[in-house]
Amino acid sequence: MAWNSDKTIIVTGGAGFIGSNFIFYLRKKYPDIRIVCPDKLTYAGNMTTVAPLLNDDKFRFVRLDICDRKGVYELFDEEKPDIVVNFAAESHVDRSIDSPEVFLQTNITGTSVLMDACREYGNVRFHQISTDEVYGDLPLDRPDMLFTEETPLDPSSPYSSSKASADLLAMAYYRTYGLPVTVSRCSNNYGPYQFPEKLIPLMIVNALNNKSLPVYGEGLNIRDWLYVEDHCRAVDLILQKGRVGEVYNIGGNTEMKNIDIVKLICKALGRSEELIVHVEDRKGHDKRYAIDHSKLSSELGWKPLTDFGKGIKNTIEWYVEHREWWEPVISGEYQRYYEKMYGERT
Ligand code: NAD
Ligand code: DAU
Repeated sequence: MAWNSDKTIIVTGGAGFIGSNFIFYLRKKYPDIRIVCPDKLTYAGNMTTVAPLLNDDKFRFVRLDICDRKGVYELFDEEKPDIVVNFAAESHVDRSIDSPEVFLQTNITGTSVLMDACREYGNVRFHQISTDEVYGDLPLDRPDMLFTEETPLDPSSPYSSSKASADLLAMAYYRTYGLPVTVSRCSNNYGPYQFPEKLIPLMIVNALNNKSLPVYGEGLNIRDWLYVEDHCRAVDLILQKGRVGEVYNIGGNTEMKNIDIVKLICKALGRSEELIVHVEDRKGHDKRYAIDHSKLSSELGWKPLTDFGKGIKNTIEWYVEHREWWEPVISGEYQRYYEKMYGERT
């Protein structure tokens, strides 16, 4: 299905990692649609990422907090969107353990403000970007167990609890108000433009700078990795053909132990594994995530297209070639964050 110049889509959080990749994906696939990006530009938002789009007259960036009801309503009034996709969030588990409150504000209140605006301005189609972390975790010794959409919500961290709350609100808005809502729950993404607080970019950037590579505990925790473009394609399909009122899992069929990823990055960059340091574990650390995405595959024909070997090669190359993107990011405030998070651990 194609969208034409009549469509206006609001993509919140588009100066962050997945949101920006989604905007680039949309722009390429649907050159005529209007894309509006409200983003608060927290530490995780980066204007450099979206700068190439600023001359595009079918793209608008607005610095806006999704919790700012007046500002959000004004934006809806001006833009009359057909679709809203909500990527805006506080997204880092470790930060949520340190300071939960802003996670509740943005991830819960912000989502409800956006959905209220959707109700107010013509029952606008709303898609909530959620996470597999809402299901809690799986044991390491039960490879047969996967998260399905029926798995009970059992989040472990303030971050995942706030995302689970937003999912419940989204479903409540569907049932109570008939708002046309879908929710997707994706596994760990990797790719270009990811803030270097998350495992893969942090290890790449540290390795490039010959800094130590801080692995939590033994590094045996497992995540299911998905290349970000595959996530973008899944969200596009859900917007085009998904059934409202439904949740769709998205996953990469790529379960990896953290330690194996870090070793792989060392090898790819020609760095010694002696850089690896085992540090104090994350509190409440989820053991394993693994996604059953058969609903999305059977209903909408989606499957991941980029295998991990290719995706991680692209990603490492991107960070090698884009020092000008990440070097400013890891100065100033980031150094204070790093000292606070890792200084206490080692
Ligand atoms: P990110 O932290 O890289 O980007 C978040 C963006 O939201 C930033 O641009 C930030 O400025 C913006 N933002 C934060 N608070 C805001 C507010 N109050 N108002 C407006 N903008 C605000 O996050 P990401 O990794 O791109 O994640 C995007 C979404 O995908 C999140 O909802 C996250 O829960 C979900 N998700 C992420 C992953 C992953 O592996 N990164 C996996 C599954 C789901
Ligand atoms: O599963 C989806 C989720 O994936 C998203 O909802 C989150 O927004 C996203 O941040 C991610 O959460 P994780 O906690 O899985 O990602 P993170 O990159 O923080 O950590 C991945 C694993 O690596 C985890 O087991 C903790 C470990 N780790 C992480 C960091 C930052 C380390 O060992 N060392 C580190 O320095």
